[in-house]
Amino acid sequence: MNKALWGGRFKKGMHPLLKEFSYSLLVDHELLGAELEVSSVYARMLSKIGLITSKEAAQIMAGLEKIKKSWKPGDACRHFQEIEDIHTFIQQELEKNAGSAGKKIHTGRSRNDLVVTTTLIYTRGKLAQLETAIAAVQKSLVILAKKAGDLIIPGMTHLRKAQPILAAHHLLAYVEMLEGDRSRFQDAGKRMNVLPLGSAALAGSALPLDRKFLAKELGFDRISSNSLAATADRGWVAEILAGYSILWMHLSRLSEDMILWNNEAFGYIDLDDEFSTGSSLMPQKKNPDVFELLRGRAGVVFGQLQAILTLQKGLPLAYNRDLQEDKPGLFDAMRKTQIALAVLAPTLETITFNPKAMKKALEDDSIYSTDVLEYLIQKGIPFSTAHEIVGKIVRHAQDCGLGLKDMPLSDWKNFSSAFDKTVFHLLDPSASVSGKKTEGSTHPARVKREILKWERNLKK
Ligand code: ARG
Repeated sequence: MNKALWGGRFKKGMHPLLKEFSYSLLVDHELLGAELEVSSVYARMLSKIGLITSKEAAQIMAGLEKIKKSWKPGDACRHFQEIEDIHTFIQQELEKNAGSAGKKIHTGRSRNDLVVTTTLIYTRGKLAQLETAIAAVQKSLVILAKKAGDLIIPGMTHLRKAQPILAAHHLLAYVEMLEGDRSRFQDAGKRMNVLPLGSAALAGSALPLDRKFLAKELGFDRISSNSLAATADRGWVAEILAGYSILWMHLSRLSEDMILWNNEAFGYIDLDDEFSTGSSLMPQKKNPDVFELLRGRAGVVFGQLQAILTLQKGLPLAYNRDLQEDKPGLFDAMRKTQIALAVLAPTLETITFNPKAMKKALEDDSIYSTDVLEYLIQKGIPFSTAHEIVGKIVRHAQDCGLGLKDMPLSDWKNFSSAFDKTVFHLLDPSASVSGKKTEGSTHPARVKREILKWERNLKK
């Protein structure tokens, strides 16, 4: 017989349709491990404050241990039609295993403070895995950047050729963005590490619950200081989903770049067969589906952020059942991210470069215009005058159907007497990148140092 955690005041049982509508075991069964941990510490606390005997605590802990051993992760969800939620599931199993002592585990607790405590612990564990997974993708990008060596491509703004950059520099840009994402999760992790348990349903408890003990044993830095916020706020879920969304925004940009680099018009990279897909009709096709799925799934994760925000918009205090809907999106984002990062790392590492295509893309020598501009400035010509001069030169070359390289020095001199034959040294990809002086620029020596820095930092 399945027994709910409530029911005394009801004359009739729940309608099957309402069961189907409201039960959450299909989702919250994932919290099994975290909740067993919480309940074990809770039993010790109850015995410490004398609400149960140490014998009862031992029976409860043994019962919880038995549940842990007999239920593999994921198996509890098979009972999603009969059992309301993970809390009810554990209670029922405990009463089977620990007899009457099991009836005391929920003393002073509400599912309102319990579910958020358990979800926090579960999320904390996932964030630790996430950090390692992000670092793994960063490492793969560094490996790929190293493989790219001194290869140069036209850097783009507005998706039009702008200035030569090292392909490695482009890849390291994503290592830097992912570093921001990693530290965002670390910060959020600190902020959310506050124990709600002991807040009861909304008002706190008349029982002398030792919350400091719970916090210490469960690895929380602090205890919450307002029982309403503790039980009814899911701001931290929104923050985590915002973190996931920003991470996916970066992944989608990286993906789009790799899709473009792989496109025939660019042709800079090839993907390994193992991380590409084919077409059921067109035999010649080899497609970058990894990156397309990453680009697409980013939208689903953004949707989860929107959902948690809308869920709490205008929601009155304190707990409302609406809050049960915090978990599907959070869990889904976690799952999607885990597998995405896992497949992305080897997809990146196995990319190969096509130097010929890169060289071809650099043939348009108007990409050296800014180098010519900075050359004139170094010769003492004011910036806007120099800008005008170079603009006219580019226009003139275009009108004559010439590249800058093919324009005789006499033509250059017609635009400014400051030009001499050294201007031709500028019209070269290596000269362009090596001419950069600022920190964070695409100068090859700087990029090399960045690679070394990341190798060092990511080893930890
Ligand atoms: N399943 C709920 C949640 O995830 C917890 C149960 C709270 N139920 C209640 N009637 N107060 O938020």
